[in-house]
Amino acid sequence: MRILILLLSFFAATATAGENQIFLKDRPGKTQVATQCSICHSLDYITQHAAILDRVGWEKTVGKMINSMGAPINGADKQIIIDYLAQNYGK
Ligand code: HEC
Repeated sequence: MRILILLLSFFAATATAGENQIFLKDRPGKTQVATQCSICHSLDYITQHAAILDRVGWEKTVGKMINSMGAPINGADKQIIIDYLAQNYGK
C-alpha cells in the first residue's frame, strides 16, 4: 500500500509540476504549500476548501494529511503551511 502511494505520488508530482504553483497566492509559505501539498492531489483541494476552513480547520486538515495520509512534512514546514493557508485561504 505504501509503495503504491509512493508510486502514485511520484506520477502525480511529475505530471503536475510547475503548472500547479501558478495560481496560489504569492505570499511567504507558498513554496512549501505548492511543493508539499501537491504530492498526492491537485492544489485545487486548497482553493475549493477556502470557503469552509478557518485556522482550526486547516490545522486539522494538515494534521490529517500528515498523520492519516502520510504526508512527509516536518514540524517547521507544517507551521509555515498552516499560517499560509489560514491567512490566504481561511474563511
Ligand atoms: C501523502 C499524500 C497527501 C499529501 C502530501 C497531502 N494530501 Fe491532502 N489528501 C490526501 C488524500 C488521500 C485525501 C483524500 C482524497 C479524497 O477523499 O478524495 C486528501 C484530501 C485533502 C483535502 C480535502 C478535505 C479532506 O479533509 O479530505 C484537502 C483540503 C487537502 N487534502 C489538503 C492538503 C494540504 C493543504 C496538503 C499539504 C499540507 C495536503 N493535502 C497534502 C492525501 C495527501
